[in-house]
Amino acid sequence: MSVPDDIRVEAEMLRAEIEEHIHRYHVLDSPTISDAEYDVLFRKLQELEKQYPELQTPDSPTQRVGAPPLGKFESYAHSIPMLSLANAMDEEEFLAFDERVRKNLDVADPIEYFAEPKFDGLAVELVYRNGILDVGSTRGDGVTGENVTQNLKTISALPLRLRQSKEIAMPGLLEVRGEAIMLNSAFQKLNMRREENGQAIFANPRNAAAGSIRQLDSKITASRELDLFCYGLGLIEGAFFNSHSESLNALTEWGFKVNQLGKRCCGGDEVIAFYREIEAVREDLDYEIDGIVVKVDDFSLQEKLGAVSRSPRWAIALKFKPRQETTVVKDIIIQVGRTGALTPVAELEPVVVSGVTVSRSTLHNEDEIRRKDIRIGDAVVIQRAGDVIPEVVKVIAEKRDVSQKEYVFPKHCPVCGSEVYKPEGEAVARCPNRSCPAQVREAIRHFASRGAMDIEGLGAKIVNQLVDAGLIKDVADLYDLTEESLKDLERFAETSAANLVEAIRESKNQNYSRLLFALGIRHVGEHLARVLTHAFPNIDELQNATTGDLESVHEVGPQVAESVIRYFSDETNRLLVARLRKAGLKFGTEKSDSSFESPLEGKTLAFTGALEAITRSRAKELVEKFGGRATSSVSEKTDLVVAGPGAGSKLAKARESGIKVISEEEFLKLLPSSEI
Ligand code: IVH
Repeated sequence: MSVPDDIRVEAEMLRAEIEEHIHRYHVLDSPTISDAEYDVLFRKLQELEKQYPELQTPDSPTQRVGAPPLGKFESYAHSIPMLSLANAMDEEEFLAFDERVRKNLDVADPIEYFAEPKFDGLAVELVYRNGILDVGSTRGDGVTGENVTQNLKTISALPLRLRQSKEIAMPGLLEVRGEAIMLNSAFQKLNMRREENGQAIFANPRNAAAGSIRQLDSKITASRELDLFCYGLGLIEGAFFNSHSESLNALTEWGFKVNQLGKRCCGGDEVIAFYREIEAVREDLDYEIDGIVVKVDDFSLQEKLGAVSRSPRWAIALKFKPRQETTVVKDIIIQVGRTGALTPVAELEPVVVSGVTVSRSTLHNEDEIRRKDIRIGDAVVIQRAGDVIPEVVKVIAEKRDVSQKEYVFPKHCPVCGSEVYKPEGEAVARCPNRSCPAQVREAIRHFASRGAMDIEGLGAKIVNQLVDAGLIKDVADLYDLTEESLKDLERFAETSAANLVEAIRESKNQNYSRLLFALGIRHVGEHLARVLTHAFPNIDELQNATTGDLESVHEVGPQVAESVIRYFSDETNRLLVARLRKAGLKFGTEKSDSSFESPLEGKTLAFTGALEAITRSRAKELVEKFGGRATSSVSEKTDLVVAGPGAGSKLAKARESGIKVISEEEFLKLLPSSEI
């Protein structure tokens, strides 16, 4: 049924009016109509849309109440990585940062900074095309996040359509970054409700916000009252700013909620005054902050400063002193980690520190216990700093009597009984036995974990069971497991045995950088694994690399280089790699592929519709591996669209814009055959 013009106009006006009220209420905090009046407008629009479904535009306020649940989130590749921030733990460290900035820019004058609160929530990115919200995603690992558009749309402080600004042109493409948070008041209300309903309560507002954004059912997210502070830009096309403060003004004009405490500060001293001011009002705010973020305001200076590793040189987080509580050390136990490190852990009388119950805290190592003179039975001050494991700050000496017991650090590994050793110059005691069940378990757990080989069903419990039964002694043994060998294990039904064997088999398709990370080489985390696999496209090249070769790679320092060399100079590790290789795992380009010239180099690909031979995340990984960029939407920058069954509007858009469309099969042909 076609929509009569007057109805179309009425719906358009209602949408604009409702969005205006949402903006006034949630962003400006100054509503001009009552809730009841608002409800009347909203229902009127709902009625019209029900009668004429084509009026239901993606930017209609009715789209904020939640969409049908999803099966899973699609991953989303950020067009510019979302960096993280280096920390300054006190004013002195901040002044050192200021010093570095001036030195790098070669200026003596005070720097113009912009300082703003550091929100404790979940970083997200919003992409607007021609003024309309297209994609909302989580930060993820900074490179790839999850597409949570439906959920972010439920946040009233977020405009579904940019407000027109008289002074600033409407950008064709705008990527806005910010922090999704839950106000403390909303958090308390939510927890009260959950308690009444017999549900588990959230430990803190950040967990509540993060948990709400990651709901597959956006109706649940909609019921959670989230908020959003915007603090930066990603890509932008069609508008230009000279400075961060200028861009924040534009964001405000366009309808985003920008925190009003942010302020331009001339030089380090003004920043420190601001820091103290904010710390003094911290407890009065209705949202959690854990410090301030200080950014060089001028964009051209930001560009000159650039970034190192994953943090910009032009910004820093100046943290507040963490919150502290007192409690009692009930016992000290030892945990044995993946690399054999023996870590003493204090078991504490549970205590709530800024909303989180703490019952354990790491004591790091023997020296630390001695230095702080921590004894079993001591009253101690503990602190929680953001997400970091709680720490014992000090013993309350006045509370000591005769009941405390000194702790004797074990000379033998509590798991396998081997004599422990302390490498020269290191504080950490280690179990030397690489077959120690604790190390084996941790190494296998790490190998199977989500960021590594992502083997579904191979969690800590199953790993323990397999190791205890003597079925696996290292990660290569996983690939010899059969349904038959698993069948006799306790609580292992036939289907779960089959599923596990299948999941292990599937993990053979994981790419080389995940595999390198999964090996658990010290200091080689997810990011460095990617850096290394890029520089050394197969394991032979990496194994044979010299310290010089390694250190010549950007971001690889002496510590990482030494660790890689040490790992591969160990015959056991080489053997392990050889066995994994024989099992069919992918250690980079095959020799014959080294001359492979990727047709994807520099190309932007968009995927639409279903893929059949490989998963979409694998497809995206492959695109990136071979020098391309994978996006979830079609724009003028898209070079190729890969379309499968069920492709919808993106395919239509691609055809309209004359962008080349290929099938999954054709896409796979663009890759070296060893990858598929
Ligand atoms: S700017 C390179 N501004 O801190 C710039 N980040 O460690 C990075 N955050 O993932 C972002 N408040 O979640 C920026 N006012 C603020 C922030 C802020 C909180 C978080 C954000 C980011 C993390 C960086």
